[in-house]
Amino acid sequence: MNAFDLRPTMTSAPRARLGVEALWPLCLAIVRHRRGMGPLPAAEATQPFTRHPANGFTLDEPAWDEEAVELFALLKPVLDRPPDGRTWVIGQLGQSLDGCIATRGGDSNFVNGPELLLHLHRLRALCDAVIVGAGTAAIDNPQLTTRRVAGEHPMRVLIDPSLRLAPTLRVLSDRQAPTLLVCDASRESEAAQRVGPEQVLGVPGLMKNDGGPPDLRALLPVLQARGLRVLFVEGGGITVSRFVAQGCIDRLHLSVAPVLIGSGRPGLSLPGTAAMRDCPRPPARVFRMGADVLWDLDLRPAP
Ligand SMILES: NC(=O)c1ccc[n+]([C@@H]2O[C@H](COP(=O)([O-])OP(=O)(O)OC[C@H]3O[C@@H](n4cnc5c(N)ncnc54)[C@H](OP(=O)(O)O)[C@@H]3O)[C@@H](O)[C@H]2O)c1
Repeated sequence: MNAFDLRPTMTSAPRARLGVEALWPLCLAIVRHRRGMGPLPAAEATQPFTRHPANGFTLDEPAWDEEAVELFALLKPVLDRPPDGRTWVIGQLGQSLDGCIATRGGDSNFVNGPELLLHLHRLRALCDAVIVGAGTAAIDNPQLTTRRVAGEHPMRVLIDPSLRLAPTLRVLSDRQAPTLLVCDASRESEAAQRVGPEQVLGVPGLMKNDGGPPDLRALLPVLQARGLRVLFVEGGGITVSRFVAQGCIDRLHLSVAPVLIGSGRPGLSLPGTAAMRDCPRPPARVFRMGADVLWDLDLRPAP
């Protein structure tokens, strides 16, 4: 073009940045690869990302919008699990400002906003199994599926050492996805008569004879032997607290909603220490989720 050429120049319009709808299929493809069910997707113009041997997956940020970058940052610890690594556990609790996860009678519909519900379904889709305690199974009668997002349902795992759960509960009868009821190996045949042998996972050493809580460290290798390595402990408070107290949680999502429940069911309840200086202060990140605030705690920081 010479200096006197007054024709408008052809400037290319800025390309629209990619959003969550382009990110989510990439997340699912990464998980399928981890499960040995497909190749790692190649980075493309429609899904630009990088995989670094030490730092795992990163998005090629200028191509993605803010919402996608934020969601990827939140999910990255789950996505970075190596295909053949050890068991890795993420827990979650949605709680009120005063630390409750449900009313005293057990109503928890809904402590948090819809963004958190979507987040739970995303975590279910990215993990091999979703685990809940018997109290949650009995009170909520949940389905534990991924019906709010695309993605496979996880294995549904119920921890019910005292075999109090009714076989008519949805997770044990709807056949939408496989379910395992966890009990001590000594009660396996009793459990099999209640819910069918294919739905029972008897764990040697789960219950000691001291009347104490289940030994969750005994559960993890048994799940791993079934190919269930990336585990999501969804609740309730007693179960998540037991996992944390026994050192079985790598990452914890605590989502705080601006609501006061007052003398409800407690969230995290840990043994505690006498001096403030001895209280753990895990590395933490904060994410806004609608009106709620999600604390992402790294309970097993790299040495
Ligand atoms: N806000 C959230 O993020 C969230 C998430 C999940 C659940 N919840 C709510 O949390 C509550 C349940 O949590 P939780 O801490 O109480 O328990 P939990 O961790 O779900 O389950 C463990 C406890 O449930 C007891 N349990 C066993 N069978 C039961 C039955 N048939 N009925 C009632 N309890 C039974 C167990 O007693 P034994 O050891 O004697 O068997 C054990 O103490 C529910 O109200 C649920 O709606 C909230």
